[in-house]
Amino acid sequence: MHILLMGPPGAGKGTQAAKLVEEFKVPHISTGDMFRAAVKNQTELGKKAKACMDQGKLVPDDVTIGIVKERLSQPDCKKGFILDGFPRTVEQAKALDKIIAELGLKLTGALNINVPAQDLIERAVGRRICKKCGETYHIKFKKSLKEGICDVCGGQLYQRADDSEETMKNRLAVYDEQTKPLIAYYKNAGLYKEIDGRQSMDKVYGDVVAVLRG
Ligand code: AP5
Ligand code: MG
Ligand code: ZN
Repeated sequence: MHILLMGPPGAGKGTQAAKLVEEFKVPHISTGDMFRAAVKNQTELGKKAKACMDQGKLVPDDVTIGIVKERLSQPDCKKGFILDGFPRTVEQAKALDKIIAELGLKLTGALNINVPAQDLIERAVGRRICKKCGETYHIKFKKSLKEGICDVCGGQLYQRADDSEETMKNRLAVYDEQTKPLIAYYKNAGLYKEIDGRQSMDKVYGDVVAVLRG
């Protein structure tokens, strides 16, 4: 299973990837998570990424492609991977085609979780994440039992720096301009599958698994 989870900011890519990892035991590779880890550790990569992420802009292609290439070359990706949030530009998609061909792998599908723009702002602004274990919550759609505390590990919940309404508007505009063209790209490649992301998280997951089982 070598798949791409596509979709606009806040569509539910990370939520679905976490469920898939549990069931299919393949690595979840999220460029957003990789950049946030680098920002936290104050690495050179983190410094480059932070300025872009804070404005809701994309990190430059050469930087992003480099970290993905390195990650996909690890042996655990042979049996499968879930790429979340990459590619996000046609340039990245072309680079990915090259990387996976070099590794002797093949993409199984590009799944696009489709959610209308007006719902995405509410999803992102209401998102809360555990500082300790990364579990994702939502103040309306997936409440923790105790406000601000993770059900899984008791850690504190925080809000992502780019989850303000204002930054989210930029992220959505960047998505429309730079990432949406990938729908046509993967339709042409015969890999494109659309998932209705307006449903409950469990229903979306049911559709994702149905598509994967073909
Ligand atoms: P990234 O971290 O990838 O952010 P994103 O694409 O904007 O997506 P999100 O993580 O915000 O949303 P998601 O789809 O994972 O939704 P989630 O499941 O959490 O990227 C961040 C930044 O890094 C970018 O802006 C860019 O700067 C940089 N970057 C990353 N990749 C890059 C690349 N390839 N090239 C260049 N730059 C890159 O769900 C959201 C909320 O909704 C949660 O609270 C969840 O509980 C809730 N929810 C989920 N599903 C449902 C549902 N079905 N019903 C109701 N609520 C739901
Ligand atoms: Mg995510
Ligand atoms: Zn936790």
